[in-house]
Amino acid sequence: EDAEKLTCHTSQFQLNISKNAVRFQFLDSNGEVINEDEKGLGSSWIGEQVTTYKKLQEGERFIGLGEKTGHLDRKGSSYLNWNTDAYGYHSGTDPLYCSMPFYIGIHQNHIYGIFLDNSHKTFFNFGASNNRFASFSADAGEMNYYFISGKSVADILQSYTHLTGRMELPPQWSIGYQQCRYSYYPDKEITTLARTFREKDIPADVIVLDIHYMEKYKIFTWDNKHFSNPKAMIDEIKAMGFHVVIMCDPGIKIEEGYEPYDDGVKQEVFIKYQDGENYAGQVWPGWCHFPDFTNPKTRAWWASKFKDYVNLGVEGFWNDMNEIATWGHALPENLVFDFEGNKSTTRRGRNLFGFQMARSTYEGTKALMKGKRPFNLTRSGFSGVQRYSAVWTGDNVSYDEHMMLGVRLVNSLGLTGVAFAGYDVGGFVGDANTKLFARWISIGALSPFFRGHTMINTRDSEPWSYGEEVEQISRNYIKFRYQLLPYLYSLFSQASKTGMPVQRSLAIDYTFDSKVYEHLYEHQYLFGPFILVAPVESTKDLVKVYLPKGEWYYLFDGKKYNGDQEIIVDCPIHKLPVFIKSGAVLPMQHAKSNTQEKTREISLHVYHGVDDTSFNYFEDDGNSFEYQKGNYNSREIKYLPQERKLIIAKAEGTYSSPLTSLKVIFHHHVNDTLFINGVEKKLVDKTHSFFSPLEKYDPINDPESMGHENVKWTETNYNSERIEITW
Ligand code: NOJ
Repeated sequence: EDAEKLTCHTSQFQLNISKNAVRFQFLDSNGEVINEDEKGLGSSWIGEQVTTYKKLQEGERFIGLGEKTGHLDRKGSSYLNWNTDAYGYHSGTDPLYCSMPFYIGIHQNHIYGIFLDNSHKTFFNFGASNNRFASFSADAGEMNYYFISGKSVADILQSYTHLTGRMELPPQWSIGYQQCRYSYYPDKEITTLARTFREKDIPADVIVLDIHYMEKYKIFTWDNKHFSNPKAMIDEIKAMGFHVVIMCDPGIKIEEGYEPYDDGVKQEVFIKYQDGENYAGQVWPGWCHFPDFTNPKTRAWWASKFKDYVNLGVEGFWNDMNEIATWGHALPENLVFDFEGNKSTTRRGRNLFGFQMARSTYEGTKALMKGKRPFNLTRSGFSGVQRYSAVWTGDNVSYDEHMMLGVRLVNSLGLTGVAFAGYDVGGFVGDANTKLFARWISIGALSPFFRGHTMINTRDSEPWSYGEEVEQISRNYIKFRYQLLPYLYSLFSQASKTGMPVQRSLAIDYTFDSKVYEHLYEHQYLFGPFILVAPVESTKDLVKVYLPKGEWYYLFDGKKYNGDQEIIVDCPIHKLPVFIKSGAVLPMQHAKSNTQEKTREISLHVYHGVDDTSFNYFEDDGNSFEYQKGNYNSREIKYLPQERKLIIAKAEGTYSSPLTSLKVIFHHHVNDTLFINGVEKKLVDKTHSFFSPLEKYDPINDPESMGHENVKWTETNYNSERIEITW
């Protein structure tokens, strides 16, 4: 400290705080500015509204803010956080359902993150209508923000999720295909649906019950007329390998004799006006009160109500309408929220309602399920909601532009700590057409949360509802996802450890490559470290794809492309442009009817590359929290092309893998022999493609090769000891 300023150092950066006026400046270890307050504006108040103005750095880009429409690079745009029931939103709507006041700034060779820890209505301006500043404001409350320094976007995400939390592993079945509509009923329709998936050989794990399972939409009830024996129905579809997810709405109908209402009034768990009267708003059941989830007593009350559902065998919970959505869409601002006894109003509580509801549902069902993982899904949320729930992007609409928007939203949620996110495949509002559904389900198969859903009174929208060709395309892409399950589940494990998303905007790995921000390419993402997906509208037969630096192999024929170039790719409706990164090691399995059907054999696809790569392959029981006590099986797989080696490290953890056989499939490796732990083996040639999206899927015909070119494979026993393959 001297007369003019305070200086703080860490090993990474330096913070200078000038005293008059108070201004913050963050420098890197070379003295270069990472981020600094705008000198003339700093942090200032207009009434209760507080804003921090940051100087716009040359060429600065901004990514993040979670579920926000607009472009990947948010420069030139402004945003409002005020959780809203955004039914049928469009590509310019703001705000949507979630608030995640966290962004990442990128300029020259600098990257940093800023998290504004304030749940009031907040505003972000990234040089919109001005060329001077990027700012963040809160309607009221403190200017309390975290500055995060890091060398890469991945570093920043790791720190941000260290701060706001990471998800526990979801049940493995929840990353399978989920089938939903508003609504499936009666019970026979549900059992028939389950049977149809099995008869048609389309893998699926979940059937979702929307509001019609309840009696007059009252939460914690069943409509006895249509669901006379829910336990029998659930048992029946469980026997077919399905799990049930149910709709959970927060509104408690005002109706004497309805237990949650009587009890809730008695226990005083509802949100009140300032004069002490319970707030009433209208939603599906009619006039309702709403639990005040910022009150720990209410969270415990709500949590306990799930007992009957859990006893019936329900394992998944879908938190909806939690912005709070009420007819009229004007939640009064003078409602009192408890905030652990530090009473506040809607102005602070609204953006947190969904988060706290998801928290209460998760904590409650987790306790009731006695060691089994519940699946939890929410529409509304706040920074950190990933600790409790997956997020889906609400009421999207059945048209191409919306499909592309959903991809951007999930990319952006991943940049804000939410690794388990997805959109309604096929679109919620309106009718999809044949081509649109085919494309949407292909892209959805390579997204973290994968669910088909549609609105009441729309056309049927199951994978077989659009004719034979689309049924086949759906089957193939869904099967492809199930083949990728060993890879995909490992990605979830990584997300739970580091916050690294499953669906990764190219801005994560190619941060300083300006091409990835171009509007033509901003949808592209990496599914995990190795699979590049280039989403494209269903109306296009040709598309321009940007391949970042490195080498890439086209999924369908194994053809190699150099990166750092734009290419034109054929994309008839059965072919979603997908490329595999050179050096990829992809653990895969045979497609199963559901995620819980165990395999004894693992296939490791290795794509030739020049740089070392590695992948952490993770297995556990998929169902319990035992992994938190070390009961998992995790192996580092290292590909070392210069040393001509592939090493599968000795397994860590106490879980014993059910696998007994390993096939290694080499793509573009020319040798004919190799050595497995010193023993010579012949490589077998394969020439067919095993993922041909339009032809009839025939796993017996050729199960092991992916792509045509130079595919060779070998087989060995799988055990937990170190396996070293050299060639
Ligand atoms: C609104 C949700 O966004 C939608 O997915 C659901 O089907 C309806 N509520 C009915 O519950």
